[in-house]
Amino acid sequence: MITFDFHHYSLNSEEQKKKEKIKKTFLEEDNMKGWYDLERQEKNLTEIETTAQEIKKNCDIFLVIGIGGSFLGAKALYEAMRNPYQKETPEIIFTGTTIPRDSLEELKDYLKEKEIILNVISKSGNTLETILTLKELLPLLKEKYQEKWNERIIITTNQQKGQLYEFSNQYQIKRFTIEEDIGGRFSVLSTVGLLPLEVAGLDIKSLLEGAKQAKKDEEKAYTYAFLRHKFYQEGKSLEAFTIYDEKLSYFTEWLKQLLAESEGKEGKGLFPISLVYSRDLHSLGQYLQEGPSLCFETHIRAIQKNKDFNFLEEKLEESICNSHLENNIPNIRITMDEKNEWNMGYLIFFFYLSTMMGSYLLEVPYYNQNGVEIYKKKLTQSLKENPDLEIHLI
Ligand code: PA5
Repeated sequence: MITFDFHHYSLNSEEQKKKEKIKKTFLEEDNMKGWYDLERQEKNLTEIETTAQEIKKNCDIFLVIGIGGSFLGAKALYEAMRNPYQKETPEIIFTGTTIPRDSLEELKDYLKEKEIILNVISKSGNTLETILTLKELLPLLKEKYQEKWNERIIITTNQQKGQLYEFSNQYQIKRFTIEEDIGGRFSVLSTVGLLPLEVAGLDIKSLLEGAKQAKKDEEKAYTYAFLRHKFYQEGKSLEAFTIYDEKLSYFTEWLKQLLAESEGKEGKGLFPISLVYSRDLHSLGQYLQEGPSLCFETHIRAIQKNKDFNFLEEKLEESICNSHLENNIPNIRITMDEKNEWNMGYLIFFFYLSTMMGSYLLEVPYYNQNGVEIYKKKLTQSLKENPDLEIHLI
């Protein structure tokens, strides 16, 4: 269960009308709402579970290669739920979020003596960092598994084009499909996120159950969207997601991507930042308390099992909220009764809904990221001028 403290904010009649109008447009005209259809994702569960069992049986290390929406959601949930001090089998390694660095050599060394399986995830199937990382690891796979190297890769990509699609066809590599109407950052509850998470031992059914409940409780997400929008209209330019548990750090990375890529367009949108408390109270806390009041805060906290620590944390949260209010930093509080898959699935879908609503309020399309394409085009152009550096899988 999750409680939301919006400080009694609720939609007035004009906002209600606007919300209904947006919802109607979304349901009738939006072509990118595949993420909204949770039942569709449930249909994939059997294949995901069977594949995950095979993976677990056949490797020591499961490498998940992807970037952006093809990486952050699964990484966020994995980090949130895992016990970092417990040895896991298979070990899950997420990689591919940079141009390969010297550390890739360290990884290759580490993999030499291990049984490995790769899940390469990219909706476009052409993303430079992803393709390059796969390309770098291929010689190792071929050396270790000879003619059976292709059985050591699972591709998750679209169903008609791109380098990964062609590559999987040419070498008969197992492939999962990312449907056209599910955008990258809206894909964690599809095969993109569910396969790695099932391998990691998370309860993905519960994750989807939580998401389904958030869909039933959609009014909460829409209220949150309107409240954020109100702060934006009142002049706030930043929104800070604050957490008390470092294990949620990748969850706030996921949130930053979801909101920045969906809403930061046409000169509009709040700039999302994240803070870990208490850590950042001893650094950025000074600015928040006495610097310009640029932001509002959304606090995300899970109740702890240890009652004393939980009491202390609750008091800490209250004190921060009251102190920051003195510098005109409003707060919203989201509290999970415990950190589990159901609550995390709920939160994911809650933020999907509010991001969709928030984008409609700003009158920007939430599903594209044309801004990100600009550097990619420049890069592609400069690689064309240096053909030796062009990256091709086949
Ligand atoms: O949300 C998005 O669509 C993006 O962040 C993409 O996920 C990211 O650019 C990676 O793209 P791809 O999955 O095509 O490799």
